[in-house]
Amino acid sequence: MAQSPQAKYRKDYQSPSHTITDIDLTFDLFDSATTVTAISQVKQLLDSTTLFLDGEDLVLKAINVDGEAWSQYQEVEGGLEIHGLPQQFELTVVTQINPEANTALEGLYKSGGAFCTQCEAEGFRRITYYQDRPDVLAKYTTTVIADKENNPYLLSNGNRIDQGELEGGRHWVKWQDPHPKPSYLFALVAGDFDVLRDNFVTQSGRDVALEIFVDKGNLDRATHAMTSLINSMKWDETRFGLEYDLDIYMIVAVDFFNMGAMENKGLNIFNSKYVLANENTATDTDYLGIEAVIGHEYFHNWTGNRVTCRDWFQLSLKEGLTVFRDQEFSSDLGSRAVNRINNVRIIRGPQFAEDASPMSHPIRPDKVIEMNNFYTLTVYEKGSEVIRMMHTLLGEEGFQKGMKLYFERHDGTAATCEDFVAAMEDASGVDLTQFRLWYSQSGTPKVTVSSEYNASQKTYALTIEQVTEPTNNQTDKQPLHIPFDIELYDSKGEVIDLVMDGQAVHHVLDVKAAKQTYVFENVAEKPIPSLLREFSAPVILEYDYQDEELIFLMVHARNEFACWDAGQMLLAKYIRSNVQAVQNGDTVTLPSSVIDAFRGVLLSEELEPAFIAEMLALPSHNEVSGWYASVDVDAIANVLKSLKVQLAQELNDELSAIYHSLKQKEYSIDHAAIGKRSLRNACLSYLAHTEQGNSLVQSQYQSANNMTDTMAAMSAANQAQLPCRETLMADYSEKWKHDGLVMDKWFMLQGTNPADNALDVIRETMNHEAFSLKNPNRTRSLIGAFLSNNPVGFHAKTGEGYQFAGEILRELNSSNPQVASRLIDPLLKFRKYDVERQALIKQQLEALKSMDNLAKDLYEKVTTALDA
Ligand code: TRP
Ligand code: ZN
Repeated sequence: MAQSPQAKYRKDYQSPSHTITDIDLTFDLFDSATTVTAISQVKQLLDSTTLFLDGEDLVLKAINVDGEAWSQYQEVEGGLEIHGLPQQFELTVVTQINPEANTALEGLYKSGGAFCTQCEAEGFRRITYYQDRPDVLAKYTTTVIADKENNPYLLSNGNRIDQGELEGGRHWVKWQDPHPKPSYLFALVAGDFDVLRDNFVTQSGRDVALEIFVDKGNLDRATHAMTSLINSMKWDETRFGLEYDLDIYMIVAVDFFNMGAMENKGLNIFNSKYVLANENTATDTDYLGIEAVIGHEYFHNWTGNRVTCRDWFQLSLKEGLTVFRDQEFSSDLGSRAVNRINNVRIIRGPQFAEDASPMSHPIRPDKVIEMNNFYTLTVYEKGSEVIRMMHTLLGEEGFQKGMKLYFERHDGTAATCEDFVAAMEDASGVDLTQFRLWYSQSGTPKVTVSSEYNASQKTYALTIEQVTEPTNNQTDKQPLHIPFDIELYDSKGEVIDLVMDGQAVHHVLDVKAAKQTYVFENVAEKPIPSLLREFSAPVILEYDYQDEELIFLMVHARNEFACWDAGQMLLAKYIRSNVQAVQNGDTVTLPSSVIDAFRGVLLSEELEPAFIAEMLALPSHNEVSGWYASVDVDAIANVLKSLKVQLAQELNDELSAIYHSLKQKEYSIDHAAIGKRSLRNACLSYLAHTEQGNSLVQSQYQSANNMTDTMAAMSAANQAQLPCRETLMADYSEKWKHDGLVMDKWFMLQGTNPADNALDVIRETMNHEAFSLKNPNRTRSLIGAFLSNNPVGFHAKTGEGYQFAGEILRELNSSNPQVASRLIDPLLKFRKYDVERQALIKQQLEALKSMDNLAKDLYEKVTTALDA
């Protein structure tokens, strides 16, 4: 590596020397040589006659100032310095770029036959020299010129204001976006598509044209996306009072995309995974994912676009808030309990793991080398939990007042996380001084609770202690303001009123000290506490529950989330004790009381099927691994598998009866139908481990009339390694080999295949006609699944899994560093494994580190992990 990449620090923020009020862009599109002409109106803000413009991989063709060729400039590392400038001027920059050679999928690139852009976070500098920072907001006018036959559709942000024909079969369209925006929200698409059209009338009567662009032939897979968009627009009006602000909203689905989707103003660009669905190609999970991501990008129009981020350290300002909004959207439309459970699984699994890893960072990071590395579970999901805690502290009404004030103060500007908290605080009067620490402190607090009942005094004391262990980036930790939601139950399951010092107290305790005792009065009998209800803070809860108490809560807790959580804690106890048993050479056992508790859940007539399905799901290998400082991969896999088999055998009759009773003749995508499929397939995943497994799975595969049931059968065959696995896999591949998106599910099964020869199969699968390392979805489905969801195969003692990871990472380092950087995460946690494995993983990290063209993305992670 020529020069080590440099870190940027949040504390070094400086406001821009100049601003650009307007930019007029012209793209003359050609596959390998596109010319970009950028005419900017520039104004000096600070006393400086020098302007720095970011730029990467650009060929500079011309620079003019006020129409005259300008020679006072210098091409420097990462950009251009222009000298001797007047206070206000028109700057023309002409650059040439090569979209076809752009495999990193950042800037302007080709996805299949279409041109498209991805500018967040710092991709615009790969299009032209510009102040590529979110606090420079300009009005964009964009002219797109291209060959008409291949590119009948020429799109950009805002409204289409003009168009025309040119010689040589070319044509052009001019777009104008009336809303000033930072460069990361710029977008351009040119290509040939099928278009699904609809419209939406906003609450104030504005008629908005809705257009979804998909690859030709895919129109029948776009309707769910359109429904989701319309639902999003309605929901944001009713719940947040926020209305759309342009005459047109476009969504383009592309096959080559590094992330989920992008909220470019008026022209969202989506990974086709989050648009395309019909019952034959998409599972219920896919449908719900589309609803959530369509919502997420739409909600960014206010939280992200109308109010944007001052600098990239503030990313959670838009992402945490927008994730919170999309979670609320999904919860209002579907099952709140199921949504909460799945969000909490992500926090407790991968987010806690990230918090404990060398790359641990606060939701508002302090130091960044490559911004793309900070689109993380911490910034997004923990960021959303931080917003949710404010919502809990302020209540819906106070929170909405805060949102209103936030928009009053910051609409049309670039703001900070501090601005958001201040608006919440000022609007509600709730003191958030200590709460702000959630933005700057990384790591997961551990909250240990102990209780004491005093029968003669009729008091019940809860002592709550919080500790945050040091993380890689921060050693000194302070106590946080933790909203701690509790309920106390008497033996009949009735709620005991919370009284302290003679006063009724709210069920959300404001825990602020390192150690604090709450003494509740008038408690007639020893209560059973329900703690951290709704997962009211992203913390690890420790309380020494007895089995009977957890079983009691599984039935009597007043909200579904708490019932589920009790079930999880009960399972956790026995997973831990059995891991130890396995390590001592003993067998895996589960007491009949626990089995009966789950039998009770299964047979419940009050609980929704979707919820029962969640209750039955064992925690993932990754989540369990997170409980240990040192992970015994094989023991955990063994225990999870044995518990599954044991539950399947003990509950065989009930599972079987429910499985058969839930068969639906007609397919429908409503929430009740999804819930039934979910429970039925949860039963199947257990039944796969019984004698009837192979025949049940086979017949479900054969009779399935939707992808959810097809995939459930295949996935059961895969997990239980049933004899029918190969036949089903071959049949599916034959049917879908021409459709990469549908094949991703198949690739994922190959990636997670718990067979001994998994890696051989994966290497062979890389030759499948639908596979390509150039496509991020394919890569994540097969390789990503192996690295992060095939614990036994990936962590094989021989080190062959690590070796394989190293090979792939070295290749992706050159073609697509962003994807490489996501894949590498499991390797960064090498300290959690035994010394032999540690050495083998480190060897791969060292090999990467010694590469002379190591991308910033991998450089940052590899050096951070090795130096930790
Ligand atoms: N802002 C996008 C979102 O969360 C994230 C995103 C899409 C992104 N594509 C990206 C971030 C590429 C970095 C790089 O909705
Ligand atoms: Zn987002």
